[in-house]
Amino acid sequence: FLLGVILPFIIYWYSSRKYRYWRDRGVKYAEPLSFFESFFTNSQKPIQEVQFERYNQLGRIYGLFDATFAVGQPALTVGDPELLRDIMVKDFHFFPNRRDLGFRDDSLFNSMLILLRDEDWKRVRSVVSPAFSTGKIKRVLSIFKESSKTLLQNLKMAVQRGDYIEIKKLYGAFAMDVIASAAFSTKIDSHNNSENKFVTEARKIIRTSQGRFSGLFQILPNSIKRYAFKLAFRKFKFFIDTVLQIISERKTTGKAKNDFLQLLIDAATETSKDEEMEEESVDIAANYGDDCLQHNIFKTTSNKRLSTNELVAQSLVFFLAGYHSTTTTLSLVTYLLALNSDVQERAYHEIKDVLKETKGELTYESMHKMKAIDNIISETLRLYPPFPTIERIAVADYELGNTGIKIPKGMTIEIPVYSMNRDPENFSDPERFDPDRFSPDQRTEQIPYSYLPFGAGPRNCIAMRFALMELKVCIIHVLSAFKITPKTKDPLKFLNSRNFLTTEDIFVKMEMRQDCPLKE
Ligand code: HEM
Repeated sequence: FLLGVILPFIIYWYSSRKYRYWRDRGVKYAEPLSFFESFFTNSQKPIQEVQFERYNQLGRIYGLFDATFAVGQPALTVGDPELLRDIMVKDFHFFPNRRDLGFRDDSLFNSMLILLRDEDWKRVRSVVSPAFSTGKIKRVLSIFKESSKTLLQNLKMAVQRGDYIEIKKLYGAFAMDVIASAAFSTKIDSHNNSENKFVTEARKIIRTSQGRFSGLFQILPNSIKRYAFKLAFRKFKFFIDTVLQIISERKTTGKAKNDFLQLLIDAATETSKDEEMEEESVDIAANYGDDCLQHNIFKTTSNKRLSTNELVAQSLVFFLAGYHSTTTTLSLVTYLLALNSDVQERAYHEIKDVLKETKGELTYESMHKMKAIDNIISETLRLYPPFPTIERIAVADYELGNTGIKIPKGMTIEIPVYSMNRDPENFSDPERFDPDRFSPDQRTEQIPYSYLPFGAGPRNCIAMRFALMELKVCIIHVLSAFKITPKTKDPLKFLNSRNFLTTEDIFVKMEMRQDCPLKE
C-alpha cells in the first residue's frame, strides 16, 4: 500500500523536477506546456509572436523549457543589451557555439559555418572571412547588377500584363539567380526557367528549409528531428556535385572567374599568410554597430586551410542562410515603401540626384551616397528581422552579470531580436516605420547591442556586407524603374515558422516611371 501511494509521488516528483528549475532559482519563466498545449497554442503562432508575448509579460530575462532543439530542458532568454554585450563579445569564449544538431557522421553538413563548433569553426571562419570583406564583394557587384536587370525585365512583363504583383515570388527568383551566379557559377533566369535542373533542385531545398510545419517539427523528439534533417540534406546532392565539378574544372583549366566560389577557392588556397580585412571608412554596415572585435580572436588560429568538404559546405550555406533572409527583406522593404509613399519618393529622388552625377551608371562609389536606402533597409530589418531569435550555447558554467543567475554548461541562451527591436525602451514609438532612426545623429543615441538583425561579435553574420550590398543594388533598380502602391492589407500576416520570420504572399501594384534614372 505504502509503495502504491509513494511510488506515483516519486515518479511525479522526478519527472517534473526539471520543470521546477527556474522556480527553484527565483527566475521568472514561461510555464512549460504539455504536448497538446504546445501543438495547439504555441506552434500555431509564428515564433516572433510567441516570444514577444512572453517578453512583454516576463521582461528581458526569463526562463523557458521549449527552446528549439532543447524542448523539455531549461533554457534562458536574455534580451538585456548590456548582458548581451558580455555574452556575444566580451565573454565570447563561454558562448562560441550554436545548437548541436548531432551530425557526427556527416562531415559535409557539420562543416557549414552555421553549424561548426569551437576550433574548427574558428579556423574555417578565419579562412572564409576575407572573401566577405568589402573589397572582395566589390568584385562581385556585377552579379547583383545582372540579376537585378533580369528582375526588372520580369517585373516589367508583369506590369504590362496589368497584374497585381506577388513580390515574394519575384524576389525569390532574384535571390536564387544571385546564389546560382555567386556560389555555383551558373547564370540563370530562374523566374522564366522553372524547369531548369538548378531551379527545381533549389526549390526542393528551399521548401524544406522554410518549414511551414516547423511548429509541429519543434515538438518532435530530437532523434526524429535529426533523421528529418538527414533526409532533407540529401537534397543537396546536385549542388555538391556541381561545386565539385567546377572546382575540378578550374584546377585543370587554370581559369578563374569573378564569382564568390572563386573567392572561396582563393581563400582556401592562399591564406597561409594573415590577410588583413580591407574595410573602408564609409562602410555599408555602419548602421549595425561595431563588429571590428571579431578579428582579434582569429589571430590565434595557426592552421589556415580548408578541406574540399569544407569548401563545398560553405557554398551550400548560401541556401540555408542567404535565400530566405534576402527574399523576405526585399519583399518587406517593398511592402513598407508601398505603404509609405513619402519615404519612397524621397529615396527615389536621392537615387535620381546621385545617378545624375554618374550619367545613370550605378557604381560602387555612387551607391555610398544613397544613404536613404541604407536607412530603409535597417528600419525594415528592425521591424522584421528575418531571424527573429538567435542563440548561443554555454560551453562552461557562467555567472550572468550581477543578476545572480548561474548559467550551467550546455544551456541554450535565446536572444529575442524581434522583441528587443519592438521594445519602447530601445526604440521610441517602436511600431512606426521611421528610417530616419538610422540617420547619423539619431543613430548615436541607440543603445549598443539593442539592435541585432545580423547578430553581434565574432559569430555575427559573416555575409552582412554581401547581403547589404545585394539588397541595396536590387532596391535601387526597383525604385528607379517603378512607383509602388500597396495591395496587401496592413498589418501583414505571418506563417507559423519557428526559425524564420516568414510572411504570407505580399501583393503590390507597380507603375513604370517615365524617367528611370538608371542607364539600361
Ligand atoms: C538580410 C540578409 C541576412 C540577414 C538579416 C542575416 C542574419 C544573420 C544572423 C542573425 C545570423 C546569426 C548571427 C549570430 O548568431 O550572432 C547569421 C549568421 C550567418 N549568416 Fe547571415 N543573414 C543574412 C544574409 C546572409 C547571406 C546572403 C549569407 C550567405 C552566405 C549568410 C551567411 C551566414 C552565415 C554563414 C552565418 C553563420 C556565421 C557563423 O556562425 O560564423 N547570411 N546571419
